[in-house]
Amino acid sequence: MAHLPLLLLFFLLLIGVHASVSHGSPLPPTYNTSICSKSYKCGDVNISYPFHLSDAIGGTYGYAPFSCGYTDLDITCSWDGRKETPIIQLNGNNYTVLDIIYDSYIIVLADTDALGGGSCPRVRHNVTFGQAYEWLQYTGPSDNLTFFFGCNLLPLPPMDPGLTRFADKYQINCKDFSNGPNGGDSFVFTSGELDPKTESELDRRCSQIIVVPVNRTILNLSNQSALPSGEYGQVLKKGFELAWTSRKDEQCYQCERFQGQCAYSQNRTFLGCLCSDGKVSTKDCRNSGAPPPTSNSSGGLQRWQNKEIAFL
Ligand SMILES: *[C@@H]1O[C@H](CO)[C@@H](O)[C@H](O)[C@H]1NC(C)=O
Ligand SMILES: *[C@@H]1O[C@H](CO)[C@@H](O)[C@H](O)[C@H]1NC(C)=O
Ligand SMILES: *[C@@H]1O[C@H](CO)[C@@H](O)[C@H](O)[C@H]1NC(C)=O
Ligand SMILES: *[C@@H]1O[C@H](CO)[C@@H](O)[C@H](O)[C@H]1NC(C)=O
Ligand SMILES: *[C@@H]1O[C@H](CO)[C@@H](O)[C@H](O)[C@H]1NC(C)=O
Ligand SMILES: *[C@@H]1O[C@H](CO)[C@@H](O)[C@H](O)[C@H]1NC(C)=O
Ligand SMILES: *[C@@H]1O[C@H](CO)[C@@H](O)[C@H](O)[C@H]1NC(C)=O
Ligand SMILES: *[C@@H]1O[C@H](CO)[C@@H](O)[C@H](O)[C@H]1NC(C)=O
Ligand SMILES: *[C@@H]1O[C@H](CO)[C@@H](O)[C@H](O)[C@H]1NC(C)=O
Ligand SMILES: *[C@@H]1O[C@H](CO)[C@@H](O)[C@H](O)[C@H]1NC(C)=O
Repeated sequence: MAHLPLLLLFFLLLIGVHASVSHGSPLPPTYNTSICSKSYKCGDVNISYPFHLSDAIGGTYGYAPFSCGYTDLDITCSWDGRKETPIIQLNGNNYTVLDIIYDSYIIVLADTDALGGGSCPRVRHNVTFGQAYEWLQYTGPSDNLTFFFGCNLLPLPPMDPGLTRFADKYQINCKDFSNGPNGGDSFVFTSGELDPKTESELDRRCSQIIVVPVNRTILNLSNQSALPSGEYGQVLKKGFELAWTSRKDEQCYQCERFQGQCAYSQNRTFLGCLCSDGKVSTKDCRNSGAPPPTSNSSGGLQRWQNKEIAFL
């Protein structure tokens, strides 16, 4: 008899705990694990968490009102009748995914315009992340190619040897190149070759400046004096690297540290931590009773996390 109040208290506590758990997350307490476990292949690239395929079953937000993975990192698998090409949009621009290296959190992208534009493509935009800035960053020292389009160098001042010299050295002069309706001359520089004086001079004389990151090693190995005659196209087509991270969202970071996968809404709100046993947690998967993942079950993320835990 004396135990009854205690037992009651215990149950009340249990209910209380339960209520607070299900209250904290806008998601139901369980989810269909098939939305998380899949790795899709598109062309030569494996796509899995934190990336997701936007045209997978029902679409990213059609099948479930959340993504298993980061908002903005959805990839479209485009089919041109011959091959599949994985494409990610950053700030409204298309980039072809050349590779995803899950072990080192690196995605290798190339401007889709540059890949499709013949041997001397015309780039049309700077690389900006838009809302995906939350997830992506440059991996470290990269290098840039700076393009000046639609330039009018004439009339040159009577004796301006400086300008004529760089015109010879940096002017894009390959047959395949098309500058667009307004014409004019075009130039390409590596970061090291563009001094502030030249830059401000060109700034005045050209209608458009585009800065594109490139792989420094590849640029270094290329024949740089052949950049304007077409080598620049080869360098652009090799792409550039970005790293992804959940560091900027503490909730997701904590979730991933303990083997969870983050669920996000389309508006970039963290909705919950998806555990491998099908439970949804508000925080992380330590209490979900999920078996610890095998080291080869889902790629680099978890391997890295295991390392991280080992350091704790
Ligand atoms: C989970 O989703 C898959 C794929 O749509 C479906 O085949 C399966 O029936 C779903 N499982 C449950 C328990 O709803
Ligand atoms: C893609 O994944 C499959 C199995 O999931 C694996 O056999 C293959 O080696 C992977 N390919 C790449 C390029 O990582
Ligand atoms: C990006 O690719 C999609 C699908 O291929 C296409 O519909 C869209 O027009 C492209 N956007 C740009 C800015 O090129
Ligand atoms: C390349 O361009 C980016 C963005 O404009 C800039 O932050 C970076 O410092 C540039 N890198 C070099 C080596 O000039
Ligand atoms: C690209 O970035 C450079 C500076 O990094 C800027 O001067 C230029 O106006 C930008 N071009 C476009 C088309 O936004
Ligand atoms: C550049 O490309 C080389 C060769 O493909 C690759 O090994 C390296 O990781 C890349 N580095 C960067 C910073 O993109
Ligand atoms: C580029 O190549 C030169 C030698 O050709 C080397 O000294 C330099 O370290 C290289 N730089 C990078 C970033 O690879
Ligand atoms: C580099 O390009 C220049 C200009 O096109 C050419 O004259 C030279 O032979 C090239 N050098 C090598 C090593 O290919
Ligand atoms: C974002 O979406 C979530 C869930 O769909 C919703 O609860 C929240 O109010 C939305 N936030 C904003 C700023 O729209
Ligand atoms: C993990 O690796 C082991 C051997 O290395 C293999 O037998 C097993 O099938 C792999 N599991 C998965 C899920 O890939």
